[in-house]
Amino acid sequence: MSAEKPAILFVCLGNICRSPLAEGAMRHVAARAGVALRVDSAGTGDWHVGEPPDRRAQAVAARHGVDISDLRGRQVTALDFRYFTHVVALDRRNLADLEAIRPKDGGARLSLLLDHVPGREGQAVADPYYGDTAGFEVTWAEVMAGAEGLLRLIRA
Ligand code: 4NP
Repeated sequence: MSAEKPAILFVCLGNICRSPLAEGAMRHVAARAGVALRVDSAGTGDWHVGEPPDRRAQAVAARHGVDISDLRGRQVTALDFRYFTHVVALDRRNLADLEAIRPKDGGARLSLLLDHVPGREGQAVADPYYGDTAGFEVTWAEVMAGAEGLLRLIRA
């Protein structure tokens, strides 16, 4: 028996570009499907704790009808593996950093976001931070595909 409500934490490096976009995309697809989920995001680094998402990330989400302006950066901790059922890394470095802090006795299932997109298993969501608007559109498409795949997993 498992009555636990799914709780998904997305983790990138800064928690101002990719993981807040993944959080916004996940909230969007879950609401659209009428599925109750807890969703949050965090960074492996602490440089942007307390800050809103990057303006370009806010803008791409807004172009797709999703408001992420209320999100604030925070740093991931080992305790997150207890509070969440799924911890989802945006790239391989994030995944390796999470494996290093993961409690020995388990907790949340750990995966890469694109593991949930058929044909893209093992791939990273590239960091758009040093790129342009087109890069943020690619990120949005990737996090939407990942969110839809995670929703299928949770509903299965
Ligand atoms: P994110 O992008 O990991 O997708 O939030 C980054 C944002 C800021 C920095 C690195 C990555 N930074 O070094 O400040």
